[in-house]
Amino acid sequence: MTYRYIVRNLFLGMVSLLTVAACENGCTPVESEIIPQPLHTYRTEGTFDIGETTKLVIIAPEEDARKIKQVAQAVGVIDNENTSTAIELIVRDSVEMMSSPEGYKMNITPYKITAEATSGAGLFHAMQTIAQLGEKNGKIPCGCIIDSPRFEYRGIMLDVSRHFFSKEFIKKQIDAFARYKINRLHLHLTDAAGWRVEIKKYPRLTELAAWRSHETWKEWWQGERLYKEEGNHDAHGGYYTQEDIKELVAYAADRYITIVPEIEMPAHSEEVLTAYPELSCTHEPYRQADFCAGNEAVFEFLEDVITEIIALFPSEYIHIGGDEAAKTSWSNCPLCRKRMTEEGLDDVDALQSYFMERIAKFVNEKGRKIVGWDEILTGGLAPDVTVMSWRGIEGGLQAVREGHKAIMTPAEYCYLDYYQDAPHTQPQAIGGYLPIEKVYSFNPVPDSLSQEEAALVYGVQGNVWSEYIPTEEHYEYMIYPRILAIAETGWSIENNKDFEKFRKTAERESNWLRAKGYNTFDLVNEFGNRPQSLATIKHKAKGKKVSYAEGATYYPQYAAGGYAALTDGIRGGWSYGDKLWQGFIGRGGIDVCIDLEEITDIKSIAADFMQICEPGVFLPAEVIISVSTDSVTFDTLARISHNIVRDENTSFKNFGWQGATRARYIRYEATRGAQGGFLFTDEIVVE
Ligand code: ACM
Repeated sequence: MTYRYIVRNLFLGMVSLLTVAACENGCTPVESEIIPQPLHTYRTEGTFDIGETTKLVIIAPEEDARKIKQVAQAVGVIDNENTSTAIELIVRDSVEMMSSPEGYKMNITPYKITAEATSGAGLFHAMQTIAQLGEKNGKIPCGCIIDSPRFEYRGIMLDVSRHFFSKEFIKKQIDAFARYKINRLHLHLTDAAGWRVEIKKYPRLTELAAWRSHETWKEWWQGERLYKEEGNHDAHGGYYTQEDIKELVAYAADRYITIVPEIEMPAHSEEVLTAYPELSCTHEPYRQADFCAGNEAVFEFLEDVITEIIALFPSEYIHIGGDEAAKTSWSNCPLCRKRMTEEGLDDVDALQSYFMERIAKFVNEKGRKIVGWDEILTGGLAPDVTVMSWRGIEGGLQAVREGHKAIMTPAEYCYLDYYQDAPHTQPQAIGGYLPIEKVYSFNPVPDSLSQEEAALVYGVQGNVWSEYIPTEEHYEYMIYPRILAIAETGWSIENNKDFEKFRKTAERESNWLRAKGYNTFDLVNEFGNRPQSLATIKHKAKGKKVSYAEGATYYPQYAAGGYAALTDGIRGGWSYGDKLWQGFIGRGGIDVCIDLEEITDIKSIAADFMQICEPGVFLPAEVIISVSTDSVTFDTLARISHNIVRDENTSFKNFGWQGATRARYIRYEATRGAQGGFLFTDEIVVE
């Protein structure tokens, strides 16, 4: 257990007692109406009114004072000599019971607010708290606040490759992230869809790899995926010059936010391998996504790129991707094979591990650390590597069990490119369904971890991939207000989280964001989950046994409730990702038989299916419903043909029969169309 962890836990445990002692006179513990929720808020009578005569006193290093003053000015507090009231912000060598440099203690009386912290970041956070508390009418309730973050790393990832977003837009987002005490901005700077950072030594990265044939990722991806020369009349894209990057890094640093740059490797690198085809296994442009792992020139290139990146970004961490490497060309590449033989590597996974370790070593020698997507666990981890867990939290759990740090960003809770409301009410998204309540429900530290392991959970991050988000307005719409839920999960302890309270404050903050020109999702008018999924239903087949025909069983990853799923009374939501829909793929389609245990009067038999073409989920081409009294001879009640039409929507359709019959056994068959893909259904409802 680290020293810091012990101190923090002691702190969390003891602070209530001390604070109660300090606030004895009629002080009551309350929740603050701010996001993220502070560790402790105690309230007394009265308010401190921010006004024209409020004096600002900052006793802190000059640089910090300058940064904090910017926030103070934004809420109308200026250096003022008329001192009827004062806000005093003080950096001290130590603040009693305060272990985190990002935390602060604040005392609020009608005449004075005093905040203390051990760093400028702590005071900056105190000032953000004052800004939110005074948001409504400039009246800050008296009392005291003792605040400290749960996690050191509280991040958001913006994908500026799939669509390029301007420097000014990024700055605008940094302003908002700072308000919610987010302290890391991870920029996904490189991917097939465009390289976004000037590298002096490799000009083709921004002359060619930053530009493509179509403005939107979708059109480009569905087409020939061509790159275009910069300046070409139909070249779309862009990049940040090194001067732009310096400006962004400084802008973020002024708000105590560190920009973490990501350079993808060994995969997601089609754009590089078209600009510099000699770095792929086959040396052909437009052929490969993965760098050649056997070619020394690749390491030279990446080390050169990283050297420039390190010079631009002061971040302790450099993100080196590592996700979704197919590595197909590696098996047949003479150089890759030679490398595997020479290094004693059994397979391409071990070769990827070699690749990442070599880059990690280089980065470490430069005094920095690496973070990578959880695939970097495959084949073994280099020491001092931090894992960013996106395929669930399992990668993160494995990492902390092996003594590595982990940042939790599981897609299920943290991918803010998923639909945030009923798909039919929203612009097209990549799929999924991730309303703010679900984002908020994420706890990055499961109970199964020991204290030592839990201390290695370094933080949490929201990822906003931009494949389906071509405009700035749309990007903000996906970010806000869901990022507020990530911010609170990163800052506030589990015991302080309360969704209903959070939601109210998030609504107020959405108004603030809108007033400042951010395009936020309308939380007040949220439609909510699929109505059918909100309560279990009763019907004649509920709880009855379902048998699956041989070769027609469900796909294990989409089992829903397993063999009971289709008669458990539980209906699915807007996405099969909720694990309430049962998925079928392969030759058999669906062919199940329900035993009602006795001959029963039946008036209807029906099941819902969903279609989302992009990930290959389709409605059935045909449904056959038949019944039997003896399970030997079946009478067909309905044969329903359906013409599958590809579209961009998420749609649902009920396939059923209505009439009057008596039977004990019900057979429900659904076949897939010629396009293949998945069938998903949630319940066979019998009335
Ligand atoms: C990822 O979503 N491929 C990290």
